[in-house]
Amino acid sequence: MKITVIGGGPGGLYFAILMRRADPRHEITVHERNAPDDTFGWGVVFSEATLDNLEEADAESFRSITETFAKWDAVDIHFKGEVIRSGGHGFCGIERKRLLNILQARAAELGIDLRYRSEIADPDACGDSDLIVAADGVNSLLRTRYADDFRPGIRLGEAKFVWLGTTRPFEAFTFFSRENEHGFFQVHAYQYDAERSTFIVECDEETWRKAGLDRAGERETVAYLEEVFREELQGHPLLTNKSEWINFRTVTNEHWYRGNIVLLGDAARTAHFSIGSGTKLAMEDAICLELCLREQPGLEAALAAYEAERKWYSERLQQMAEESRRWFETVKLRRHLEPEQFAYAMMTRNKRLGHDQLRLRDEEYGARVDRWFARKAGVTAEPAPPPMFTPFRLRDLTLANRIVCSPMCMYSAEDGTVNDWHLVHLGARAVGGAGLLIAEMTDVSADGRISPGCAGMYRPEHVPAWKRVVDFVHGWSRAKIGLQLGHAGRKGSTKVMWEGHDQPLERGGWPLIAASAVPYHAHSAVPKAMDRADMERVKEDFVRSARMADEAGFDLLEVHMAHGYLLAGFLSPLSNRRTDEFGGPIGNRMRFPLEVFRAVREVWPAAKPMAVRLSAIDWKEGGQTIEESIAVARALKEAGCDIIDVSSGHTASDETPELARCYQVPFAERIRFGAGIPTIAVGAISRHGEINAILASGAADLCALARPHLFDPHFTLRAAAEQQWHDAPWPPQYIAAKPLPREKLPWLERERKKRRR
Ligand SMILES: Cc1cc2nc3c(=O)[nH]c(=O)nc-3n(C[C@H](O)[C@H](O)[C@H](O)COP(=O)(O)OP(=O)(O)OC[C@H]3O[C@@H](n4cnc5c(N)ncnc54)[C@H](O)[C@@H]3O)c2cc1C
Ligand SMILES: Cc1cc2nc3c(=O)[nH]c(=O)nc-3n(C[C@H](O)[C@H](O)[C@H](O)COP(=O)(O)O)c2cc1C
Repeated sequence: MKITVIGGGPGGLYFAILMRRADPRHEITVHERNAPDDTFGWGVVFSEATLDNLEEADAESFRSITETFAKWDAVDIHFKGEVIRSGGHGFCGIERKRLLNILQARAAELGIDLRYRSEIADPDACGDSDLIVAADGVNSLLRTRYADDFRPGIRLGEAKFVWLGTTRPFEAFTFFSRENEHGFFQVHAYQYDAERSTFIVECDEETWRKAGLDRAGERETVAYLEEVFREELQGHPLLTNKSEWINFRTVTNEHWYRGNIVLLGDAARTAHFSIGSGTKLAMEDAICLELCLREQPGLEAALAAYEAERKWYSERLQQMAEESRRWFETVKLRRHLEPEQFAYAMMTRNKRLGHDQLRLRDEEYGARVDRWFARKAGVTAEPAPPPMFTPFRLRDLTLANRIVCSPMCMYSAEDGTVNDWHLVHLGARAVGGAGLLIAEMTDVSADGRISPGCAGMYRPEHVPAWKRVVDFVHGWSRAKIGLQLGHAGRKGSTKVMWEGHDQPLERGGWPLIAASAVPYHAHSAVPKAMDRADMERVKEDFVRSARMADEAGFDLLEVHMAHGYLLAGFLSPLSNRRTDEFGGPIGNRMRFPLEVFRAVREVWPAAKPMAVRLSAIDWKEGGQTIEESIAVARALKEAGCDIIDVSSGHTASDETPELARCYQVPFAERIRFGAGIPTIAVGAISRHGEINAILASGAADLCALARPHLFDPHFTLRAAAEQQWHDAPWPPQYIAAKPLPREKLPWLERERKKRRR
């Protein structure tokens, strides 16, 4: 094959090496616009897991690369004068220039035609190549030229960062944070040889401008940062190499090849530097592309297989990288945290490392976090429980653990009356160990229902029907139970979920009311815009239902202000188009929901807590923003709300949510810190490692799980067993299934030790 590689970075060079190694008959030319030693940046980091791939692909370059590695095991997080160390991570670093020199030498040895100072702007200049590899980096010219085919997406990060070096060696992956009169600065530093370290400084745009760094050249930048980080640098200078302040560019491509041109490395996609994977990804792309070319029957099939494999993998990694980017870009929101929690939040920022993995890597560190968290929750027992098994108190209500069974409509009531289904459904989840159950959206009036099967609290017989469920939960489990009160608004009068979610009833429907006459779907019924009399009636319905919920014995009341239902419809500008005092800015839009909340709080017993469920954002341009939701949460707190149950979306039928593991957790964190109110995190949370991380990092106080409870009512008991936690709420009837304590299972201890090794 005749191959032209554009770009002599790690990706391009490594691909050329692997191809030539696989078949010396390939004619390969690499064009690099720079000279061999003329490279940007300092050191790059690999995790030990990456190295196995490199060893297998080319043992020769692997040997040279690893000979000069700086290796370390720990992450040190310096915050407010303390250093928190977490071990067992296994990193190695190498100077970027050294890595390139090794790859250049290996490429030359294999007879690859390396052309330096050769910039290719036009692929036609590549002559009659069978394959053209665009390994020309984040600003790829080829990708731009064929943007119509590759369909790139380029998102600019919000923070400014500069890639510097220093002569101070660090013995761990080191993070420093500093606040001064201009703002907050974050440093990511790591050693890459005995005398040099990378020193990346990041800050938000406001800080950058206030510090005058927008007008600073390299020299001024270094002078300023040497002053800010005087203590951390310990007399060592900062070093520059084309060190400009830039915004990180997250690159994606819908297609990775076009004809015989294929994207590789940063040209194809980037991953934020805080997860240190860009070089690894570029080199792994090279491994994959070479393999596909070797194994697939033709060029088209090989490129298609390469795209399928690498795109899938990259999207997952990129998701974690984006979470990490967003975490660092909003780092200053966490400046009030104690060092232990700040450090832990940083370690678990992108869910890549759950609580269990951190503990496996460094048992002592994991135990210390558990102990710290437990002490904060008033638990002094040794060993400390995992965070999810610490109690949580709201007013006079104490929950035995931090797991909530999230409200889930069962569409199985008759004229609002709940029955055996609800008893067994909620009863099973109570027995299964959750600390709190929040019963499904229960409507305050018959015309406030979503569907004819929805539960209600508006007829006298609803009270004893619910009381039967509440009494079972109180009598047979340690769980507490709350009720979610709601009114469907413009999303009412629809079929039960399994007959057509959000589809209008064909027969037996009822008229709808809402903030404005805006239908949910184009084909949904148009609601009447509420007048004052409608508002009064709805408010009275909420108040009456709250009294009935107390009579039924519920421990907590949650007011539903999320998911586009009536009260949420007032909050979102997408559904609230009013021009009176209930429409316009968020202060007006929250007026009616707050009025309802205050009226309910007045009749709901002071000893019992109240929650509100909010959709933090609408996932649609022009929708409710997180800042507005923080303002609503603040107002609710003042009105006596104890906790915000933080969901998102379902306001607009054409929303585009970014679904991912734990995707709503950052909203729970923003509201918790921004409004100073406890939060419940919910949404795609399914593992105990994630739950412990969410709680211990301070992102939320409770974790609610909906779908995981549908296939496993005993989620909490199972999590206790898996973590060898013996104080879980096992019902005596099920005690025979409770696992034995660890000391009675020596093989388990041996197994854990083996895995740690
Ligand atoms: C601040 C920062 C820190 C980072 N830290 C790490 C880390 O710790 N670990 C890690 O793995 N990764 C890290 N990275 C990412 C890493 O640098 C890149 O992901 C990696 O270099 C990608 O390799 P590549 O071969 O695709 O592209 P590049 O390394 O960018 O190479 C592209 C090459 O193409 C050349 N070129 C461009 N256009 C043309 C043209 N038209 N003609 C000829 N030549 C051209 C360029 O000169 C360049 O040499 C970091 C990145 C940044 C910004
Ligand atoms: C069958 C079902 C019914 C639901 N009903 C309600 C409800 O009544 N009230 C509510 O606020 N959310 C409801 N939700 C949303 C969940 O409470 C939860 O926020 C969502 O499913 C995300 O959590 P998960 O990823 O753990 O499922 C429902 C979800 C499901 C799957």
